[in-house]
Amino acid sequence: MKLPQIITIPHPLLRQTLKPVTTFDAKLAELAESMIAVMHRAEGVGLAANQIGIDAQIFVYGIEEAFEVKGQKFAPIPARAIVNPKVLVIDETIEVMDEGCLSIPNVWGPVGRPLGIELQGQDIHGQPFSSKLFGYEARVVQHEVDHLNGKLFLDYITDPTKLHNGKE
Ligand code: NI
Repeated sequence: MKLPQIITIPHPLLRQTLKPVTTFDAKLAELAESMIAVMHRAEGVGLAANQIGIDAQIFVYGIEEAFEVKGQKFAPIPARAIVNPKVLVIDETIEVMDEGCLSIPNVWGPVGRPLGIELQGQDIHGQPFSSKLFGYEARVVQHEVDHLNGKLFLDYITDPTKLHNGKE
């Protein structure tokens, strides 16, 4: 399988609201599979379709190994594909944490996001689902859903002097 390249800013597709997925076929499953492969190759935790040049409301996310954020330990999150997502905030507490993006190489900066969300969407077969997510996983999902709506983490940065080129 030849994997697509990740597109970077200022590519206009990164600023577009993507089209809803209406056909749940083998091609969509293949797209999800290659998106997961691209995400792993880039050592990312999430990837949206427009980041590989595709105009469709689908993203993947996952973390292969157990990980630690701010001293809190998390189990691995198996890679999954989410189609036509919607995010409802269920815990409005704002947590600020550094984010980066595969489409904005070598830039990180502090982004405040709600701690808890309900993620609604469909799986790659079109089956609707909803799940409640908290903390780091909720953050990753919010970042990816933003991508599908043409939004980047840079849009949340109010003080550009806080951007930096290496993780703290
Ligand atoms: Ni990103």
